Amino acid sequence: MPWAAIAITMAGAAACGSPDAASQAPPSAEQIAAGQAAYRANGCAVCHGRDGRGDGPTAGSLRPRPPDFTDASFAAGRTVETVAAVIASGVAVMPAFGHLDAPTRRHLAVWILSRASSDDDVATKEQQ
Ligand code: HEC
Repeated sequence: MPWAAIAITMAGAAACGSPDAASQAPPSAEQIAAGQAAYRANGCAVCHGRDGRGDGPTAGSLRPRPPDFTDASFAAGRTVETVAAVIASGVAVMPAFGHLDAPTRRHLAVWILSRASSDDDVATKEQQ
């Protein structure tokens, strides 16, 4: 038992001692859920589809078509930072969402990138 207590203490100290721990941590369920809520609240689904598959009601008439966020090739080479930047600036026929605050744009980016992992549908399923 004393050993377990020591191990827990050391793990806690290691986590606190690393200033980069937060930025390197995988996104939390809370961040993903906040991103999904912002996505639904800001009309992204009209073009991108409810679940980000690029199949919203207007998608068929858009050139270029919105990408399928659930396709692993979409996430490849993209980061939370690059996706959040595109949300702020807009691209092609997509309007800029620079009026959203930076944390909201990051949450949107986290949710979008989470769509590409095949076992990530937890966040969506929890809401259904
Ligand atoms: C009017 C339709 C429309 C709306 C509304 C819209 N988008 Fe888009 N979006 C597009 C289209 C079309 C593209 C593809 C542009 C291209 O390929 O050049 C795109 C591309 C993207 C991309 C990929 C950018 C990249 O790196 O290539 C992201 C991320 C994105 N949209 C997020 C969002 C989010 C988040 C919202 C809501 C806050 C949103 N979009 C609202 C049409 C839309």
